[in-house]
Amino acid sequence: MTDTMETEHIHPLKLFELAKSQKRFLYTSAPMVRYSKLAFRKTVHEYGTDLCWTPMILAKEFNRNQFARDSDFTISTLGPQPPTIVQFGANVPLELARASTLVAPHASGVDLNCGCPQSWACAETLGAALMERRELVRDMVVTTREHLRRDGWAVGKERDADDADGKGRSVSVKIRVHKDLRKTIDFITTVLGPPQDRHIDFLTIHPRTRATPSSAPIDVSALEVLTSTFGAHVPILVSGDVFTLGTLPYTSPVAPLRSEGTPEPPLPSLPHLAGLMSARAILANPALYAGHDACPWSAVDTFLNHAVRCPLPFKLVLHHLAEMCGPGFGPDKSALLSRKERARMMGCLNMVDLIDFMDGKRMEKGGGVEVVRREERDGVVQR
Ligand SMILES: Cc1cc2nc3c(=O)[nH]c(=O)nc-3n(C[C@H](O)[C@H](O)[C@H](O)COP(=O)(O)O)c2cc1C
Repeated sequence: MTDTMETEHIHPLKLFELAKSQKRFLYTSAPMVRYSKLAFRKTVHEYGTDLCWTPMILAKEFNRNQFARDSDFTISTLGPQPPTIVQFGANVPLELARASTLVAPHASGVDLNCGCPQSWACAETLGAALMERRELVRDMVVTTREHLRRDGWAVGKERDADDADGKGRSVSVKIRVHKDLRKTIDFITTVLGPPQDRHIDFLTIHPRTRATPSSAPIDVSALEVLTSTFGAHVPILVSGDVFTLGTLPYTSPVAPLRSEGTPEPPLPSLPHLAGLMSARAILANPALYAGHDACPWSAVDTFLNHAVRCPLPFKLVLHHLAEMCGPGFGPDKSALLSRKERARMMGCLNMVDLIDFMDGKRMEKGGGVEVVRREERDGVVQR
C-alpha cells in the first residue's frame, strides 16, 4: 500500500443512484484473486465500469505484515483513482475492522467475501463457509462500521449528511446462495439488520451454491426471489454470467438493455436488481460495459499503458493478454489472436518484446484505435 495523497471518494450508494437516474444498471468489475489489480481496474474504469473490486485480501495477514500491505493493495498516484471496493477474507470481527480502517483513506468501501468455495478457505471458515455463520458475519460488519465511524468515516445513516466532504465509506458483503433458499433469506435478514439503519450498504449475490460449478448457469429464479424480497431495502448486484450487456438471462423495466425483438420464452424481469458484476467475461473483454461484444484492440492498448505505469508481474500481464486476445464469453467468438499467435505471444520474454509483438499483430490485422472511453459510454451503451 502506498502512502500518498488522499483521493476523493464518491460513496458507492451515490453511484447506484446515478446509474438508476440514467435508467441503467450499476456496472461493476468483480474481485478476482491475482487479476483485479490496479492496472486492470483502471482499464475497465475507462470503459464504463462504475465501481471496481480489488482481489480478496486476507485481513489477518494485511493487518500484521507490511509486505502483504504493499503487495496486495496498490492505489493510483497518477490521475483519478477508479472508485474501488477493497474485498477482504476474514472470520474475526476485529481483523476485518482493523484492515478496513487501514484502507479507508484510499478506498470507497470495504467488502467481505462470503462466496469463495475453495477448500483451503472453507477449512479456515473463510469465504463460502461464512454462509453457515450468519451471526458472525453480522458481527463482522457491525464491528467494522463501528471502527470506521470511530475513525471519523461516515458510515450508516450519517453518510448522507457527511458525504459532501468525501468521508462516506460503504460496508458490503458478497454471498453465494444455499440449496435451501430459506437459509439464504435468513442469512440476509440477519446480516442486513433493521431496514431503517441497516448494517450493510449493498449486497452482491452470486446465485450459485458453494457446490455449483461456474460452468452451470446462474440460478435466475433464486435471484428473482432474493431481489423481490430484499431489493427494495438494499441495492443488490448480481455476480455471475454477465457475459455481454445484450445477453443477460433476465431483464429489468428500470434498466432496459435489449432493444430488438422479444426472446422466447420471455426473460424473467427483475425490477429490484440494481447492478451487474462481471468476472470472467470482463477479464476477456474489459470493454464490455462500453457495449463491445468482443475485446477491441484499443482495450489491449489501454491495459498495456496501465500495466507499464502500475506494474504487474510480467507473467500476469501475459495471462491478462491471453484472456483478452482469446474468444471471450459472449456469442461473438472472434478473437484478436489465433490460438497459435497466442502461444507465440506467451513466449515473449519481457515487456519490450511483448509490446513489439502486439504492435506488429495489430498493424498486420488492421486493428484501429477505436477508443470508446468512459465519457462516450452513455451514447454507446444506451443505443
Ligand atoms: C480468476 C478468478 C478469481 C476470483 N477471485 C475472487 C475473489 O477474490 N473474491 C470473490 O468474492 N470472488 C472471486 N471470484 C468469483 C467472481 O468474483 C465471480 O463471483 C464468479 O466468477 C462468477 O462470475 P462470472 O460468471 O462473471 O465469472 C473469482 C473468479 C475468478 C474467475
